[in-house]
Amino acid sequence: MSSKMGKDLNKAVSLLMDGELVAIPTETVYGLAGNALDTNALIKIFEVKNRPKFDPLIVHIKSIQELEKYVLDFPENARKLANSFMPGPLTLLLLKKKIIPDLVTAGSDKVAIRIPSHPMTLSLLERLPFPLAAPSANPFTYISPTNAQHVADQLGEKIKYILDGGPCEIGLESTIISFESDRPTIHRKGGLSIEAIEAATGPVNIQTHSSSNPSAPGQLSKHYAPKIPVRIGNLENLIQQYRNNRVGILSFYKTFEQIPKKYQVQLSPDKNLEDAAKNFFSAMRKLDQLDIDVILTEFLPEEGLGRAINDRLSRSASLG
Ligand code: TXA
Ligand code: MG
Repeated sequence: MSSKMGKDLNKAVSLLMDGELVAIPTETVYGLAGNALDTNALIKIFEVKNRPKFDPLIVHIKSIQELEKYVLDFPENARKLANSFMPGPLTLLLLKKKIIPDLVTAGSDKVAIRIPSHPMTLSLLERLPFPLAAPSANPFTYISPTNAQHVADQLGEKIKYILDGGPCEIGLESTIISFESDRPTIHRKGGLSIEAIEAATGPVNIQTHSSSNPSAPGQLSKHYAPKIPVRIGNLENLIQQYRNNRVGILSFYKTFEQIPKKYQVQLSPDKNLEDAAKNFFSAMRKLDQLDIDVILTEFLPEEGLGRAINDRLSRSASLG
């Protein structure tokens, strides 16, 4: 398994050129990448992830200039955001050119496109003559991977190589945004805060679920979910309520004396939302490996990256 993980860009380039898949590091989460212009590679992505084909993929490119090859228009607000935040945790939904296969967009006329901010993956993209389609490198609906080992643990048997770029700096998926009207629309809360976006474009609309709306695929209410059930609320009350069960605690910063340390994770003892975001998916994985009946957790402050974390928490508990 370990030989499958490494920093060998040549190996990654040659596998991708051969139509194979490679897991890649990004600043948000690890991606399961393949040639975005090759239908066979795209089919492999859906198969390895066990992902339904109605759930479209994000296309990763190396520069803003390259955007023009793949999209028909580049609205003013999209341009502003691109100039301020790309490379970075931002995905633009823009009208696609024909060159983007329908399988990438699940038949939509818009393609989701972003420039990842990770030196290894940017070098990889520089060396490839095509963009990379890459969903998060986890089985469909499970917790997203934020280091190479997470990918190996779950998809190691199914993919030929994992480029190891260390732990993800941001730790939450990109924020997805579209531009049908003067007000941009947020489709997925993510690693770029809404506050930062609004500072550039003015107020946005937020339209982020639900499971019953097939026009918003990937926003299924059960997502980012551990195998162990998750309950969200006031932790003191939940601990009381589940006193006859084996519990794990995921708190923002508090510790609880009545619960053994081994069963508790604090997202950020300093109450820092960026740190909490970085730790969030690893913490979920760690708790999911314990011999417990339920994971008890709480919402974080609804501001900055706290909003994206709360969105993931709700979905992990199927409250979305
Ligand atoms: O940070 C990220 O965005 C990571 C890294 C690997 O880049 N990728 C990621 O991909 O989160 P994935 O497949 O786990 O989530 C992509 C979601 C889809 O589920 C869907 O909600 C949305 O992006 N999406 C992609 N293409 C779309 C399209 N054409 N129209 C509407 N939504 C789209
Ligand atoms: Mg995902």
